Amino acid sequence: MSEIASIDRPQQTVSAAQFWDQPEEYRDLLLNLINIHVVSELHGADCFERSILRAPTPEMRMRMAKTVMEEYGHHLRYRKLMEELGLDWQEYAQRKGHLTTFDVPIESWADQAVFLALLDRAAGHQFRHFVQCKYEPFARAAQETLKEEYGHIGLGMDAVKELLQTPQGRADVERVCRKWLTAGLQSFGGEQSKKNERYRYWGIKQDTNEGMREAYWQQVRAFITKDWGIDLPQDWREIWQPEVAGDDEEERAY
Ligand SMILES: [Fe+2]
Ligand SMILES: [Fe+2]
Repeated sequence: MSEIASIDRPQQTVSAAQFWDQPEEYRDLLLNLINIHVVSELHGADCFERSILRAPTPEMRMRMAKTVMEEYGHHLRYRKLMEELGLDWQEYAQRKGHLTTFDVPIESWADQAVFLALLDRAAGHQFRHFVQCKYEPFARAAQETLKEEYGHIGLGMDAVKELLQTPQGRADVERVCRKWLTAGLQSFGGEQSKKNERYRYWGIKQDTNEGMREAYWQQVRAFITKDWGIDLPQDWREIWQPEVAGDDEEERAY
């Protein structure tokens, strides 16, 4: 048995009261993730809000409004994690930009539908790792968020299905599909990421960016080609070229 290997990593569930007893790197990585959500869930909710009236039917508007409400709820949920550690979330929020995902503008209902189907799904792939992390408040928040993200993905899939029924809707989905696929692939971060290596060391993630991206691609490629009837290459590198993670990308990805 190696004592060195396990000396600093939490073996058991860590509570908020035990947070400050944890090693600095572990705390920093968790706070980075919590802060990403405080910033990006709020920004995302603001971006989504305009889509409520873009939705074509009252049913879709209601589901979109619920999605927006839940995104503000996610912001508040992660804020609470900071507050229970006695941290000023606004001060932290100033240190960080929102996720690069939100650099791409959502300009139409087709954009919003495909975003939910592909980008909330990409977020879901991250959350499936976070729920296994030993810091209990973050794992619990991730579990609650993941449940709601599945609802958002469902709305996206239903909305795309509806759009695909008309020639205009199909053209709209086809036009925006690659743009959101690019954002989805990119959201997993650079290749050979040092930060990902540290997340894995500390048990916050269980897979490499490359591994997560590949799993995501296999999943989305299957339903886009089969159910949506949109052609895609076998290899995602024909859609987006990764780089070895640079500093800015490391900063603004998960
Ligand atoms: Fe969210
Ligand atoms: Fe969402």
